[in-house]
Amino acid sequence: IGQTTVYQPTVTSTQTLAKEAYREGTPHGTAAVASEQTGGRGRMERLWESPEQTSLSVSIVVKPDISLREAPQLTLVAAVAVAEALQHTTELPVQIKWPNDIYINNRKISGILTEMQAEADKMQMMIVGIGLNINQKQTHFLDDLREKATSLYVESGKEWSRVQILQALFISFEKWYDIWIENGFEDIREAWEKYAALYKRPVKAVQGNKTIVGHMMGINREGVLQLKDENGNVHSIYSGDLE
Ligand code: BTN
Repeated sequence: IGQTTVYQPTVTSTQTLAKEAYREGTPHGTAAVASEQTGGRGRMERLWESPEQTSLSVSIVVKPDISLREAPQLTLVAAVAVAEALQHTTELPVQIKWPNDIYINNRKISGILTEMQAEADKMQMMIVGIGLNINQKQTHFLDDLREKATSLYVESGKEWSRVQILQALFISFEKWYDIWIENGFEDIREAWEKYAALYKRPVKAVQGNKTIVGHMMGINREGVLQLKDENGNVHSIYSGDLE
């Protein structure tokens, strides 16, 4: 992972840069990296802010030999990889908030967006986009972001080398990706639950205008979130947000 890297200081979105590289035949593991994105994209059509100098935007092209049904697992693999890279590098208390937001002290530090291309049931490629807030100052986060977002600088009081974080991320991503491909999802599930925020706690899963209330019981063997409601019934949650 990251053996081939395409870098541009400023791009609209590294997802697009990665897609272009894929079309030109780039190998598995290629990373598209930018210092700034002018049109960074988040999940559910949201925007992702990636300011120059202080943020890190990476999109990794992978070509796993998996079925469509297994595809959502890759995002959880990536979440574990980001969590471990940040935890090991900074020693800050990192958590994963389902499905794949990375939090430190209850504020979001990193987000992951996965896109894929498949033909029939055969996966052709997936692009894992990772956005990291590194050196933003507290004052950078305006309005409602102030309560919700954070950076490594805000949490640790010091500046971090983006290259160091990127290297740690490549190493960790390669490790967890290989574990997933070689051994299947079980090790990922265990690692994911180790980092999981809200584990065994009461939560609300919001999917559009549908809300399910229950205790967060982790993810099952396929990576699907499990909520146990007050009657003891277990619900599988495939997408949405947790509150
Ligand atoms: C989210 O939390 O909703 C996901 C945010 C994903 C942002 C990353 S930054 C690198 C890649 N390029 C994008 O445009 N988005 C992802």
